[in-house]
Amino acid sequence: MTSIEVGLGARRYTIRIGSGLLGDAPSWRDAIRGGHALIVSDGNVAPLYAQRLRDALFDFPLPSGEGARRTGEGSAPAFSVDTLVLAAGEAHKNLDAVSKVLDALARLGATRDACVLALGGGVVGDIAGFAAACWMRGIDFVQFPTTLLAMVDSSVGGKTGVDHPAGKNLIGAFHQPRAVIADLATLATLPDRELRAGLAEAVKTACIGDAKFFAWLEAHADALLARDVAALTHAIATCCDFKAGVVERDEREAGERALLNFGHTFGHAIETATGYAALLHGEAVAIGLVLAARLSAQLGMAGERDAQRLQNLLERLGLPVAVPPGLTPDALLARMRLDKKNRAHALRLILWRGIGCAEIVEAVDETAVLAAILDERP
Ligand code: NAD
Ligand code: GLY
Repeated sequence: MTSIEVGLGARRYTIRIGSGLLGDAPSWRDAIRGGHALIVSDGNVAPLYAQRLRDALFDFPLPSGEGARRTGEGSAPAFSVDTLVLAAGEAHKNLDAVSKVLDALARLGATRDACVLALGGGVVGDIAGFAAACWMRGIDFVQFPTTLLAMVDSSVGGKTGVDHPAGKNLIGAFHQPRAVIADLATLATLPDRELRAGLAEAVKTACIGDAKFFAWLEAHADALLARDVAALTHAIATCCDFKAGVVERDEREAGERALLNFGHTFGHAIETATGYAALLHGEAVAIGLVLAARLSAQLGMAGERDAQRLQNLLERLGLPVAVPPGLTPDALLARMRLDKKNRAHALRLILWRGIGCAEIVEAVDETAVLAAILDERP
């Protein structure tokens, strides 16, 4: 098992990466403090893994040494657990889903020391984490990511939230988990397309600040696609380590953390404009990475060679690199204007100087953005 610390003072937590961790309660049970736990999952993940997590919760004694008892068994239930199954997919990452989690917490009688266990991909993690941030102004939650994307990115760092019809992730809160438990065994059931989408966020990490990792991804693309456990562990650990450092230095995105959104302003606009139906989040990010690199080259910030190298790697990983037909540059630009990173009506984008070197660029010229989407020189 690999462990990485996210050092946030009293809110520090551990990311554990390994096979079989869901059933290995001793490695995470101490993160759950009170007498109520709500497992939140989705319709694909729950049938595969919710019972395993539930059993592990009951099989391992509470930190006090008292054996856990299921509600209704024995005289005084010491530990109450419920499972909520949400509809799967980005189209359901909204306030309705958050309401469902809050209703389930109310039914459970969850007190301030209750814990939400997010079992699933980034969608479940974002919804469940946001509900945990809202219930009684903030209760504990633990992330059990089951997609590669959630393991390399979304489960770490405490960004939680849901989409609004006007745009992606517009409603949310910073709320750090108590622990992140990445069980690699769950990746065995992840569809290939979802695995590839997760690799897009790993490529993003390399693009931002780790040229060596970029070269490693180029060298290990086949091993990653073949789900080689050593390769996946290295990729996940490298991404988590990198993200932990950024979050420790800039938890609330006053500066550096915005770099983690390289490619995302374009990607989010593509996702919103296509109604979250045509592309997975990671696929939209892959296209966004290409557009950000192209725009950087067109603005003279970086060479074309690195943009081509990026495109080649994404293509090798089976990811899309072109804006879907039917999306006009004007429509995408309109969506980009609502991005959270913008300031005072001006586009604020994450661009790069080349592989491993991203930076925040203020007031980017909209004509250049349109040209990059159209793939034309301004
Ligand atoms: P997802 O949660 O929709 O999961 C992808 C699909 O795979 C779903 O259908 C899910 O049911 C299924 N699935 C999950 N695990 C499985 C498994 N082990 N076996 C079989 N099927 C499984 O999508 P995602 O790609 O994990 O996450 C994308 C979301 O993450 C987006 O909403 C994005 O905005 C968010 N995100 C958040 C952050 C953050 O910092 N909070 C960072 C990056 C992305
Ligand atoms: N995925 C962007 C962030 O966590 O800040």
